[in-house]
Amino acid sequence: MEWRHRNLIGLEGWTREELLFFMEQANYMEEIINRPIKKAPALRGKMVVNCFFENSTRTRVSFEMAGKMLSADVVNWSSSGSSAAKGETLRDTAWTLEAMGADAVVVRHGQVGVPDYLAKKLRSAAIINAGDGTNGHPTQALLDLHSAWKRLGDLNGAKMAIIGDVLHSRVARSDIQAFRRMGVSITLCGPATLMPEDTDSLGVKYVSDVREAARGADILYFLRIQAERQEAGLIPSTDEYHRRWGANDSTVALASKNAVVMHPGPMNRGVEIASSVADGPNSVILGQVRSGVAVRMALLYLCLGGAR
Ligand code: CP
Repeated sequence: MEWRHRNLIGLEGWTREELLFFMEQANYMEEIINRPIKKAPALRGKMVVNCFFENSTRTRVSFEMAGKMLSADVVNWSSSGSSAAKGETLRDTAWTLEAMGADAVVVRHGQVGVPDYLAKKLRSAAIINAGDGTNGHPTQALLDLHSAWKRLGDLNGAKMAIIGDVLHSRVARSDIQAFRRMGVSITLCGPATLMPEDTDSLGVKYVSDVREAARGADILYFLRIQAERQEAGLIPSTDEYHRRWGANDSTVALASKNAVVMHPGPMNRGVEIASSVADGPNSVILGQVRSGVAVRMALLYLCLGGAR
């Protein structure tokens, strides 16, 4: 398949065939990760800049590992300690990094639309969205898809429950796009105060009872309670939240026998997920992290023209 995406801003334009092709590419990358010497020359001479205006462990580190395993040079830039703290604009920061030779800029920002804005402003570097505000986190959706697909196979007709703070979740928005494109039917669940108003236009249904959402589900996806994006008072208390919507063994028992339990991390153990579930036999949470490296390798490879 000829790869037509230079940037990754969101997954809106991706077809099911492209998603499947991408999963296969990520599988090839996993073979590199599993080698004793985790190194391939595909992106030698390319420069990747991780440009993070928000905190991150998984996304930033996995992009760094992904670039290095493909022999790209990787520079990590973070807003704290940079000239952004002296007032330099986002556009000037990005132009500066591009002028220094960045071939790809991986950007995480608290404002919705920043990756799209930069894609329009930069002249040559590819832009990859590593999370923009509450809007999207497309590489998380790709890694979620990859880890579910590896465990469950063809996802067409599978049932997924996304439980928790959907309102503030860029992960949920990107996952809904990606999993629906693969034929998965999605039920959202959580406090009504943490649900978006546009569930119908998203093509999903909403139930408030976690048991109803979990019953027969193939994928149970628990979201992080995002204290940093919440106004006060949207949940009664973290204890109450855990009792009503948190993942526990009895919730998982209602799902299908081989159901996978997912969480994007970082987890608030004892709030949205009990440790017995996070570390239990249905959990693929560390598998998601591992898929994150493979998926980001595949993305850098395809967007930076490694295939050519
Ligand atoms: N899931 C995720 O984006 O994690 P980080 O914030 O650690 O990158």
